[in-house]
Amino acid sequence: MIRINGVNKFFDDFQALTHIDLEIGRGDVVVVLGPSGSGKSTLCRTINRLETIDDGSIYIDGEKLPEEGKELARLRADVGMVFQSFNLFPHLTIKDNVTLGPTKVRKMSKSDADKLAMELLERVGIANQADKYPAQLSGGQQQRVAIARALAMKPKVMLFDEPTSALDPEMVNEVLDVMTDLAREGMTMVVVTHEMGFARKAAHRILFMADGQIVEDTDPESFFTNPQTDRAKDFLGKILH
Ligand SMILES: Nc1ncnc2c1ncn2[C@@H]1O[C@H](COP(=O)(O)OP(=O)(O)O)[C@@H](O)[C@H]1O
Ligand SMILES: [Mg+2]
Repeated sequence: MIRINGVNKFFDDFQALTHIDLEIGRGDVVVVLGPSGSGKSTLCRTINRLETIDDGSIYIDGEKLPEEGKELARLRADVGMVFQSFNLFPHLTIKDNVTLGPTKVRKMSKSDADKLAMELLERVGIANQADKYPAQLSGGQQQRVAIARALAMKPKVMLFDEPTSALDPEMVNEVLDVMTDLAREGMTMVVVTHEMGFARKAAHRILFMADGQIVEDTDPESFFTNPQTDRAKDFLGKILH
């Protein structure tokens, strides 16, 4: 579903990604771990071209990510992204936040988009909030709206960049539960998170990044019980104790 070949990414003369080669299969749930500044967000952002790349190529479901233009907009719509900050439109109701993409980008009729929005809001457990505005919802509820909004584009891949990091602790699980359901339903997911419980339970695969490189790529059990590199051991030591 995702193929990344020989990707390098520079910010001026600072190299943020170094020779990334990665294949992610359909339905795979990949958790990306690593210290702050290791390139996790940059990797996610290159996958839907929020960042350009300097070398290499990225394919989504067999199609090469174009540089720009209509084709890019179309392919980018195949990749849903959920950020730490929910970025909902404050002046739109919850339902209209979800219908905006389908009507504008996918050219869906308003009535079909409304129906889809209500199904998705039901799925993330907030259908009863559909007519409210974002500021009237808790952070956990807003992040579930952001997930519903991304799903409304019927993406082939969902990227999550620290989706629970801005939430009060009591709201983390309601968001992780939605993500766990999505994983079970077979969505291809790339998740940057510090939630080790989620990583252990939901991930099929762990990527550990350091200094812009993928330094470990293994299953969760192996990663957590038997990390291979000093960087990973050091990271786990800090995060688990
Ligand atoms: N827009 C940018 N301009 C300059 N440097 C950046 C930019 N975005 C990220 N970086 C740098 O690239 C490195 C990787 O950042 P990032 O991918 O955000 O790391 P992570 O998500 O793992 O914390 C960091 O050193 C960061 O300072
Ligand atoms: Mg980041």
